[in-house]
Amino acid sequence: MDVEELKKQAGVAACEYVTSGMNVGLGTGSTVKYTILELGRRVRDEGLDIIGVPTSIATKNLAEAEGIPLAELDDLSHLDVVIDGTDEFDPGFQLIKGGGAALLREKIVAQASTKMIVVADERKQVECLGAFPLPIEVTPFALNTTRRAIVKALNCECTVRSEQGKPLVTDNGNHIVDAHTGPTIHDPVTTERNLLNIAGVVQVGLFNGMCEVVILASSDGITVLEKDD
Ligand code: 5RP
Repeated sequence: MDVEELKKQAGVAACEYVTSGMNVGLGTGSTVKYTILELGRRVRDEGLDIIGVPTSIATKNLAEAEGIPLAELDDLSHLDVVIDGTDEFDPGFQLIKGGGAALLREKIVAQASTKMIVVADERKQVECLGAFPLPIEVTPFALNTTRRAIVKALNCECTVRSEQGKPLVTDNGNHIVDAHTGPTIHDPVTTERNLLNIAGVVQVGLFNGMCEVVILASSDGITVLEKDD
């Protein structure tokens, strides 16, 4: 089965967790796109009554086009659930996110949500995090000084993500440094803490202890993985 079909299956399956009356965090990326399309269909065709909180400008534009009512996170008392993609997840449901450069808003929304559901295809399941370069959001001020401090902390190659020959600018006006650690992040909590100690680091694409459910699409079909506490 092709990867796009797997993404679609995972994205659509996650919609089972959404019912009328919920405030729903809407993640970013090419997998959760299918969740947003299906939620939009249910809003239009079935009268599903939800309020969405987007995690990026791209998701806001898509959700608006789909007719999903949206609100600012600050204007809601709570979020029932966030559904988002991931770049990797390990056996402890620790995640690397930020491949789409939306990690800061994704993390704020995930922390505000009662439950985090991740939609993924089988390529995202790993034994140890880090084959996917770890995205780190950094301030534009002293970009290279911060990048060098990250190199020192992680002892690996770290590159500034670029777009059209210039450092990519996130929705928050920051940049992204990708740390090429290789699959060596055995202790993501310590890695995150060390990186957050660097003043120019705004946020790290490690999502520790946040995800409870992974909806995994593989050639065998959909598997719902639940974290055992
Ligand atoms: C964006 C993200 C995405 O959720 C992550 O990159 C997965 O995206 P995709 O479903 O396109 O593979 O963290 O910042």
